[in-house]
Order: sequence, then C-alpha cells, then structure tokens
Amino acid sequence: MRLQQKTALITGGSLGIGRAIAIRFAQEGAKVAISGRGKPALEEAAAMIRDIGGEALIFESDVQDRAQVNKMVDGILERWDRIDVLVHNAGINSPVPFLDMTEEEWDRHIDINLKGAFLVSQRVCREMADRKHHGSVIFISSVNGLAAEANLAHYNASKGGMNLLAMSMAVELAPLGIRVNSLCPGFIETRLTKPVIDNGPLIRDYLRTIPMGRVGQPEEVADAALFLASDESRYMTGHCMVIDGGQLIKLS
Ligand SMILES: NC(=O)c1ccc[n+]([C@@H]2O[C@H](COP(=O)([O-])OP(=O)(O)OC[C@H]3O[C@@H](n4cnc5c(N)ncnc54)[C@H](O)[C@@H]3O)[C@@H](O)[C@H]2O)c1
Repeated sequence: MRLQQKTALITGGSLGIGRAIAIRFAQEGAKVAISGRGKPALEEAAAMIRDIGGEALIFESDVQDRAQVNKMVDGILERWDRIDVLVHNAGINSPVPFLDMTEEEWDRHIDINLKGAFLVSQRVCREMADRKHHGSVIFISSVNGLAAEANLAHYNASKGGMNLLAMSMAVELAPLGIRVNSLCPGFIETRLTKPVIDNGPLIRDYLRTIPMGRVGQPEEVADAALFLASDESRYMTGHCMVIDGGQLIKLS
C-alpha cells in the first residue's frame, strides 16, 4: 500500500477525475476527505470509498470562499490531525467565444479554478508547515494550461495560472519538505466532456487530434496522481505532468 498512514484532501472529489483519485488513494490505504458541490454526489462517492474498506469524510464546500475552505480544513484536522496530500481538482469549464465572454464568466472561471487553488493550497500548506509535516500538493490543471484551445480563454488562463502557481509554491516550499506538482490531463471521459463524446461526428474529428486515438479515463489520471502523491516521486517538485495520449506533441 503506497499511501498507508496518509490522509488526503481531494477537492471536487465527488465526481469524475476527483472521485477516481479518491477511490485510488483509498485503495492504497489513505484516509480521504472529499469536497464538492451537491450532497448526493458526495455521499455516493463516500459510499463507494467505504465499500472498498476506505475511510471517507465529506464536505459540501465552495473552493472560492475562504470561510468555507477554512471550515473544511478545520474539520479534517479535528478528525485526523493532519493532511499529507492535497489534490486540488475542483474546476469548471464552459466554452464561450472570447469576444462574447462576459466579465461574470471570466471571474467565475478564475475564481473557482485559480483563486480556489490559491485559497485551499495556502491554508493546507500553512498547516503542513506549522506542524513540520512533509507533504505533496497536486493541482489538476490541464493541457489547456500549456496550449490554447478556442472558446476557452478564461479556462486556458486559469489553468496556465495554476501551473505557474504550482511552480511558485514549489520554489518557496521545497525547503519545508512540501512538494507541489501539477497534472495536465488531455481529454478525459467525465460529465464535463460527455456532450462531445455523445456527438458522433464531433468525437470522430476530435480523436484525430490524439495520437493514441482514444479518450482517457479518470482512472488513468488517478494512477498519475497516485505517483505524485507517493514517495516514488520524492525528488519531483514544480513539475507539470502531461497525460493526454500524445495530443500536445502532435503538430497536425
Ligand atoms: N474531463 C476532462 O477532460 C479534463 C481535462 C483536463 C482537466 N480537467 C480538470 O479536471 C478537474 C475535474 O474535472 P472533471 O471532468 O472530473 O469534472 P466534473 O464536472 O465531473 O467534476 C468537477 C468536480 O468539481 C466540483 N466543483 C465544481 N465547482 C466547485 C466549487 N466551486 N467548489 C468546490 N467544488 C467544486 C464538483 O462538485 C465536482 O466534484 C477540473 O479541474 C477540470 O478542469 C478535466
């Protein structure tokens, strides 16, 4: 078991990629706290974790609200007294052309995807530092943080910012034994991408951009997150790990 005795917080752990990570970590012995919007999805994910013998805490908590973030972290510390691994995965993505993008849509993406990463990771890292606990922080970013996709200026900017935030934290927190890396998935099959996957002609065209010729699964991202959470990646920090079936390296 690669995460025995460890506790992990996975934001957005109620669905999709976050839920797959929570389940994978529980399989490896971690106690997992998951947060997200909507109690039913959180309870369902917790039940899946308990079904495989894991321990789960749930928090209905909005990552862009400092008071809710503090309440969530306090709740975890009260119960387990430590957080060894943070996976900041909560995020949104609603496409709109740049020229039509409203200030509200811009703010919503930056606040949830980027400011949320700042608020959650600052609080968790402060606890790790005060308690002199070594830890691993993983941001679920995106290939959109490394290259631009049309109609996603707000999302691209938020994920690019997240990658630089991870590097900045990695530089400052390395002396404290805290590692910070980001994972940049390509096209992964979740609720977020289902409308494209269910559209035959659209998905056929899209798959031509991926050398491996298929979409990724949340469990494949979870395996990469497990590597970054575990001691196997102990000399890695400030790294941006791409998991995209080769999409980003293809010129045409
Ligand atoms: N699916 C993909 O193809 C893909 C690719 C690259 C990156 N990502 C990133 O992976 C992450 C998860 O995506 P997914 O496809 O699993 O999405 P999803 O919609 O299935 O799950 C999103 C999770 O985030 C939570 N969430 C949303 N807003 C929140 C908020 N304000 N506060 C707290 N929690 C909130 C939801 O409750 C849910 O648990 C996102 O950050 C996304 O940008 C996804």
